[in-house]
Amino acid sequence: MNMKHKAFFLLVTGLAMASFAPCSNGNAETELLSLKNTYKNEFLIGVSVKDSQFMAKNPAETAFVKGQFNSITPENLLKWDAVHPQLGKYRFEESDRFIEFGNKNGMFIIGHTLVWHSQTADWVFKNAQGGDVDRETLLARMRDHIQTVVGRYKGRVRGWDVVNEIMEENGSLRKSPWQKIIGEEYIAKAFQFAHEADPTAELYYNDYRLEVPGKRKGAIALLRKLKAAGVTVTGVGLQGHYDLNWPKPQEVDETIADFGRLGLKVMITELDVDVLPSRPGGAGNADVSRKEAADPKLNPYKTALPEAMQQKLARRYAELFGVYLKHRGTLSRVTFWGLTDGDSWLDNFPIKGRTNYPLLFDRSYHAKPAYFAVIDAVPVAPVNSPSQPQPAVRR
Ligand code: XIL
Repeated sequence: MNMKHKAFFLLVTGLAMASFAPCSNGNAETELLSLKNTYKNEFLIGVSVKDSQFMAKNPAETAFVKGQFNSITPENLLKWDAVHPQLGKYRFEESDRFIEFGNKNGMFIIGHTLVWHSQTADWVFKNAQGGDVDRETLLARMRDHIQTVVGRYKGRVRGWDVVNEIMEENGSLRKSPWQKIIGEEYIAKAFQFAHEADPTAELYYNDYRLEVPGKRKGAIALLRKLKAAGVTVTGVGLQGHYDLNWPKPQEVDETIADFGRLGLKVMITELDVDVLPSRPGGAGNADVSRKEAADPKLNPYKTALPEAMQQKLARRYAELFGVYLKHRGTLSRVTFWGLTDGDSWLDNFPIKGRTNYPLLFDRSYHAKPAYFAVIDAVPVAPVNSPSQPQPAVRR
């Protein structure tokens, strides 16, 4: 067993006893095998979280988040419908606790997300008569939302997904209510309002399937235009909702390089690897409005993932992190969309009630072969260990 894997035993033993808590002096923590320590010289390693994972309802789970990751994104609780459910009414109880957790633990907090077409209540786009609201009113609502939310967490949230999923597959702008009512300018305005509310925060455009050349081309043209107009955009988030075959490593490589050439930071913001069969056209299509009918053939691993598939997933993660490491410097963060397989949205998207295995930890918080593949992707000189590392089979 090499030193990295040996240290992991300390972590899982501690979790099993539900008594693990990183030592406040930091020494014990650095002895543990963790994603964040392994990647500390490369890029941030983040995870999306929900309330049970930071509200000490389950201390072992919270310790796990703190032990493995140095950046957190709220899976749902900062979306418009969560913090701003009615006109003039904001709700910050959950998000305040989330921010407090991240700040207390020195984590790089991501605000997800300010302007999106989904999880935004209808009232935002409607007038009192139920028709479309006028342009000026919608701009005013957007400004109020951004200034209130970003302003509240000024200096505490380090980066915001300002606009989410704004492009169509063919590289044109998505015909969202934002686009239809305000026009293209809504994008520049969203960045402007966010920058005014917190000039120190990093500001991102986040989207899926930017690895598709046509969509990427449209995004690059848009970002060039924003830059030329003096709009503050810090980076681009590639959501990273992948499967075992799509995208090819070369497509990921080119995508990071293309955005990097614009002088932007690039992040993988919602990484997961779907291992279940999909209907044609499903790969990486994270359009949340997709809903497909159940079919037992599309849910083949109800009780467990076969070992051959575990290894395939591990190789896929190794391949992806090989590309990510090539781009250290440009790539500033890799965030997983969920802590364990049991938390993943892919258990219910695009088909409800399936058993998926897209992440690094299984439903019992055990590290999967994919975890060790990600750890082993970082080359380190072995210390007091055999020259050939043992296979990563601890499950
Ligand atoms: C998903 C959440 O994981 C689900 O819990 C929720 O029901 C729908 O949204 N792209 C995004 C994320 O930017 O916010 C989405 O998260 C997944 C796709």
